[in-house]
Amino acid sequence: MDVNEAQKKDEAAKPRRFSNDENLNTLLNSVVDEVSVYAERLGGQIKKLSDIGRALSGVYDLNTLLEMIVDQARNFTNADAGTLYIVENSTLRFQIVQNDSLKIRMGGKTGETIPFPPVEMKESNVSAFVALKGVSVNIPDVYDTDLFDFTGPKKFDSSTGYRSKSMLVVPMRNHENDVIGVLQLLNATNPKTNEVIAFSQDYENLSESLASQAAVSITNAKLISDMGDLFEAFVKVMATAIDEKSPVTGGHIRRVAELTLTMAEVIHDIKEGQFKDITFSQDQLYELRIAAYMHDIGKVTTPVEIVEKAKKLQTIFDRIHYVRLRMDYIIQKIKLEGQNSKIELLQNGNDPAKIKSCEQETLEKVAEMEEIRDFVNKCNEPGEFLEDETLERLKELSKRTYQDEAGESQPFLTEDELLNLSIRRGSITEAERKKMQGHAAVTLKMLKQIPFTKKLKNIPNFAGAHHEFINGKGYPLGLAGDEIPFEGKLMAVTDIAEALTASDRPYKKAMPLETVYRILRSMAEKGELDPNLVDLFIDKEVYKIYQERHENGANEKKSSEAEVKS
Ligand SMILES: [Fe+2]
Ligand SMILES: [Fe+2]
Repeated sequence: MDVNEAQKKDEAAKPRRFSNDENLNTLLNSVVDEVSVYAERLGGQIKKLSDIGRALSGVYDLNTLLEMIVDQARNFTNADAGTLYIVENSTLRFQIVQNDSLKIRMGGKTGETIPFPPVEMKESNVSAFVALKGVSVNIPDVYDTDLFDFTGPKKFDSSTGYRSKSMLVVPMRNHENDVIGVLQLLNATNPKTNEVIAFSQDYENLSESLASQAAVSITNAKLISDMGDLFEAFVKVMATAIDEKSPVTGGHIRRVAELTLTMAEVIHDIKEGQFKDITFSQDQLYELRIAAYMHDIGKVTTPVEIVEKAKKLQTIFDRIHYVRLRMDYIIQKIKLEGQNSKIELLQNGNDPAKIKSCEQETLEKVAEMEEIRDFVNKCNEPGEFLEDETLERLKELSKRTYQDEAGESQPFLTEDELLNLSIRRGSITEAERKKMQGHAAVTLKMLKQIPFTKKLKNIPNFAGAHHEFINGKGYPLGLAGDEIPFEGKLMAVTDIAEALTASDRPYKKAMPLETVYRILRSMAEKGELDPNLVDLFIDKEVYKIYQERHENGANEKKSSEAEVKS
């Protein structure tokens, strides 16, 4: 105690002089003492209330909050029991039920469901009355009043041996003055004697204040949770729009999100080796899930014909039909020319040897054209690798010409057809590949424009890095090694794995999991994927865990390594 405090204490101990009249002085001193005690008690209660208010305002989980409100209100008023109702669809829905004597704790974080049906909004029910009128009700003994119908509590008492007595019911008003719930406190107890007493007027006022603070906190928590739901719904709508853009990639995003989360949870549980220190909190898992849901958001700008391109000549439709029609036209033309030559020969001397030779020549020309048509048709199929001689032959064919109806000379294959048919691997050209890859840059650009909250701030960097390679040869930024966030490296593995195992891509043939593993390993060896993450994916059988969780191990997935449009 410092000197000042000691002085103050001495002063307080001395009788105060208000008047020279001794009797009046004594009276005034006793009034001041009483007021001081009252003020001190009130100050203590206000402090307690503001502490509770502060504690409530920091909780955003609705269940935790509701339970905390009843705990604090009961603690504050020394009530043996408490119930919290929330107004919902013109009824009062039980949210929290607590009774210390009966050792009951239901609702909130307890996970214990409350079996009571919602209370109808009838004025005969005390809680409904409070909700409807917005006023508090303080009853010293519920058995001594006929203001409300207490058949329910009495029935409860007779089945449990409890005795409901004093009751304080207060409305919970939010900042807009709407009653959003009702707090009902039961059996105030004298802490010294444990005797059930009536709720004092002080408690009535303070409980009202507490209930209002609680209502504001509930409204805030609900608002935050609604905003979260709204955001998540928006994210899923975007993902659906991209998945629905093409049946080729349908469901890819959702599956990548589920596979990514499965892998993160597997990593979280690892207790030894190089992943032992990597953990994911609930918030981090949420951030990762949203990042995975948004990883291909940039595909909104990728032309659907590229996303869907299954054959080399495909744009909006497969142009092989044009080429085939052209070849058929040339064949018909050859046949017609053959017939014309034959007629000419018949008219000019009817030489059997010449006619035979003409027929033979026509047959040979038709056979050659049919072979060319089949060859081009074969070249339209996306393959693993196109041979040099095939490319040479395509080039030669593009130089050959025929005469169209108008007598104009036309090439067997146009420049664009030659370019597309000459694709060595898969079905897309370099220019199309660039456009396809552009989605990663667009993803990054789009996500950087969203003002994410603190807990979600890494989403652009995680999602934007799913096509980066460890060796720096990925896109869009060409990040290398540790420049790529761990979550980005993880998503790179799950993205490829999903694309390879997907059964809904028409340019793929069936691919067993062993082949998927082989491709992932080869990508790791080339420095594209993180080798440790690839090993983990394979060793811990992440894909099988995912399948069991999300697909019940159903339908064997199909694919091929020719192209991965992830
Ligand atoms: Fe993807
Ligand atoms: Fe992608």
